[in-house]
Amino acid sequence: MLSKTHELKSGAVPPSDDKRWRIVSATMRRHGHSQSSLIETLHTVQNCFGYLDEAAMSFVAASLHVPLSKVYGVATFYSLFTLKPSGKHNCVVCMGTACYIKGGQKLLNSLENKYGLHVGETTADNNISLLEARCVGACGIAPAVIMDGQVLGHATPETIEQTFQKWNEESK
Ligand code: FES
Repeated sequence: MLSKTHELKSGAVPPSDDKRWRIVSATMRRHGHSQSSLIETLHTVQNCFGYLDEAAMSFVAASLHVPLSKVYGVATFYSLFTLKPSGKHNCVVCMGTACYIKGGQKLLNSLENKYGLHVGETTADNNISLLEARCVGACGIAPAVIMDGQVLGHATPETIEQTFQKWNEESK
């Protein structure tokens, strides 16, 4: 849970109870919620979630007292930011240090081999998008993957594939 102090100070409530918002809030707090921390804050969101979506941008805009249009402008201007992908489902593979050491790259390689899917791409049927993050706050269960918002710890190519199969079955 986010501290009440923070909520009151920024006047904004995170889009969900996901603990990754604490990391995002910590970045904004560290910079005194100054508007000049916009890029760094968006960077933290992307590192934690793998992409920026509307809820995240609204939260950052409200927290930093920056117009939403400016947040959109920054997010779409810089190529380092990825907006929410078009796939119906999202698979975010963490490539932060702990996950990388524990085999994150192996997971990406297996997805490439099996589905021809690279980071930033969506399957031809628009069903699954693949993204990477730089630490989703689950280092203790590395390698971590976030499947549609659900953390999958100690991920293996097989466990990811099971979810992909389920998603593909559902889309038939
Ligand atoms: S490095 Fe992957 S969860 Fe921290």
